[in-house]
Amino acid sequence: MMRPSSVCAGTFAFLVCGLVSAAVSAEEGVIEQPYDGFTVWVDCQRRGAVRFEYTATRDTGNLPRRSSFGPDPDFPAECQQTTGASYKTDGPRYDRGHLVPANHLDDRPKGIRQSNFMTNILPQAANMNYSLLYFVKGAQARVFHPDRLPMQVCPHCAGDLRDYGGYKAKMNPKGVNLSDVWWDIAPVRHAKYKRRNGANELPLKVLDRVIEMSTDEGDLVFDPFGGAGTTYMAAELKDRRWLGIEIGPTDDIVRRFSDNHSGQRILLDQRSSLNTLFTEQVRRIREKTGWWTCESVREKQSSKEERQLELEQM
Ligand SMILES: C[S@@+](CC[C@H](N)C(=O)[O-])C[C@H]1O[C@@H](n2cnc3c(N)ncnc32)[C@H](O)[C@@H]1O
Repeated sequence: MMRPSSVCAGTFAFLVCGLVSAAVSAEEGVIEQPYDGFTVWVDCQRRGAVRFEYTATRDTGNLPRRSSFGPDPDFPAECQQTTGASYKTDGPRYDRGHLVPANHLDDRPKGIRQSNFMTNILPQAANMNYSLLYFVKGAQARVFHPDRLPMQVCPHCAGDLRDYGGYKAKMNPKGVNLSDVWWDIAPVRHAKYKRRNGANELPLKVLDRVIEMSTDEGDLVFDPFGGAGTTYMAAELKDRRWLGIEIGPTDDIVRRFSDNHSGQRILLDQRSSLNTLFTEQVRRIREKTGWWTCESVREKQSSKEERQLELEQM
């Protein structure tokens, strides 16, 4: 591991922008709203931003952010959300979070205050609060192996959370496509599970997925913000080479490497429940309770086809 001396010494700035939804821009009813340091485009009818843009610069500020969202007095009230409370859903809980992060605007009092306007809200899974930006060099990634995830089911009864109607037979037995929101990995919340105080530690499972998706064995993984060393541990366990930098103490990272068995178990556990529509345990419960499974749907489909054939031959 290298100790940094000149890393981040120069200024850096890059444009961060995103589309919250696929259908954007010239759409009618979308209002562009410039603020100090960022811009959002709000779909008035849906009362939500569909696009944002800001330039991330070197982190020099430390202004505190406000704890609650409030209306933008200079924006039509009927185009804004009316509460900062959690969304009401039957499934997982979604809080209202910042679209453009307040802490990227913490060098300007006006901008950080504006980031708490109702125009800058997006749904945020309550059990998940990290954002990853994905960039590739060139037109497409050299390596791209996204995981497929098991279908989301009711945690206790293993039943469907939504009605798939006639589409069950069309579902890929290898699982559902990885979406932009990774709901299946819980954050490292409790201090007792954190390796190093002060580092906002990512779960090993997140790094497992990132590394699996974007590298092959033997590739070099570089993380210049080591923290508790999660990236390095995941890279090590997944037979990638790695290079790291950490400006703070590195003892906890070094200590972490003296016991990589627990990490190995976490990754094995994670891998064994991916790339299948139902995990073994869920499939067993569903068979018992009579919920459809890939096998039962396939059986039903082939007897339907046989019957159709018989009818045609009559
Ligand atoms: C959010 S933590 C990274 C956590 C890490 N991904 C993990 O899961 O353990 C960010 C780390 O970057 C380090 N850091 C911040 N500025 C740095 C710099 N200029 N050079 C090297 N490390 C830096 C901080 O000390 C902190 O430990």
